[in-house]
Amino acid sequence: MKPLTSQKPRVLVMVGLPARGKTFIARKVARYLTWLGISARVFNVGNYRREHLGSRQPAAFFDPDNADGLAARHQMAMAALDDMFAWLQGGGEVAIYDATNAVKKRRDLVTDACRGRGIEPIFIESVCNDPDIVARNIQATKLTMPDYAGVDPDQAVRDFRARIAHYERSYEPVDEPDRSWVKLVDTGERIVLNRIRGYLPSRLVFFLSNLHLDPRPIYLTRHGESAFNVVGRIGGDPGLSPRGKGYSTKLCDWLHTELAGHDDPQVWTSTLQRTRQTVAPLRFETKPLKNLDEIDAGICDGLTYDEIAARWPDDYAARKGDKLRYRYPRGESYQDVIDRLDGVIIELERQRHPVVVVAHQAVLRCLYAYLTGQPREKGPHLQMPLHTVIRLQQGAYGVDEVRVTLDG
Ligand code: F6P
Repeated sequence: MKPLTSQKPRVLVMVGLPARGKTFIARKVARYLTWLGISARVFNVGNYRREHLGSRQPAAFFDPDNADGLAARHQMAMAALDDMFAWLQGGGEVAIYDATNAVKKRRDLVTDACRGRGIEPIFIESVCNDPDIVARNIQATKLTMPDYAGVDPDQAVRDFRARIAHYERSYEPVDEPDRSWVKLVDTGERIVLNRIRGYLPSRLVFFLSNLHLDPRPIYLTRHGESAFNVVGRIGGDPGLSPRGKGYSTKLCDWLHTELAGHDDPQVWTSTLQRTRQTVAPLRFETKPLKNLDEIDAGICDGLTYDEIAARWPDDYAARKGDKLRYRYPRGESYQDVIDRLDGVIIELERQRHPVVVVAHQAVLRCLYAYLTGQPREKGPHLQMPLHTVIRLQQGAYGVDEVRVTLDG
């Protein structure tokens, strides 16, 4: 993906009323691109407002007839825009300008600023006509948004709804025919495209069409201890050790309790014996996916790390030097694993039910890095211990993580 995108910088411009999931989408896109190896950053105008003007602005501040409020908001929008162009100038590849951009005049200004630098911006508008989705977004946002930290929840919802009403009075939906835009209606129920061409924009639309804000947990766990784990050998297709079988029993009991009441939880494994044996006692249907197989260690498959160091010292040193990009001869690198997990990520995003992924150390490091937004270089070094379930729940402003150890 990288060589196709690195020729020129891109600007994505979020559009939408408050509580339409813009920040959620912007962050997701940035995280996805970063994970794939494209430098991406979100410029959130709300953060500039909070930092420079304080986070406790009353709803009246957002009244389009409030001239002082309007001028202050304009100033913040311009400060974020300046920083965004400076970042692109310094080598950034995809900038995401996250603000309401609710009126055509503001979008014209952003378009002119981009075009003046030879960039054609792509607008991503999130429209929600479904009052239930809006209510859920308000609920999710007001609980976690920095503007309402420590504020009584009912008061926060009232203030937030008043803020939305101010924006609604002046809102102009995107329909500029000469621009590139994506309109996401009711979180992907309907998608309208205008002048979307090329690999990256089309790829982004594919990603965007699978996003939604419905909360659901994702569980990540390695297989139970394998016969190779016991002797420190990598790769292969060994079965579980007695201790690994013990984990399998405990994990499946734990999942039956944890997922009781959820209809149709998804359980995905690799195609290797050790993951399939781990879920064998489960009463849910399980799905083996080839893309979840462990990193292919090529000529080093089945060796211990000491044997690799003795037989292939240059390779051993090269991997230590750059674990992300080092590719085992006739095998894979972490970057290769990331590339083959792209489809798994899209499927994970699409699911509205809990998903349990039972896989391997390298594969889970890559998935975890995406889900929690870890810096790329850190991914191959993340802690992914055996006999531990990682429960992740995503919200608009972050990810909740719980680790449960089922050992002993
Ligand atoms: O040792 C277990 C294992 O899953 C191996 O099969 C795999 O090669 C390795 O972990 C990946 O971890 P690292 O990238 O740290 O070598």
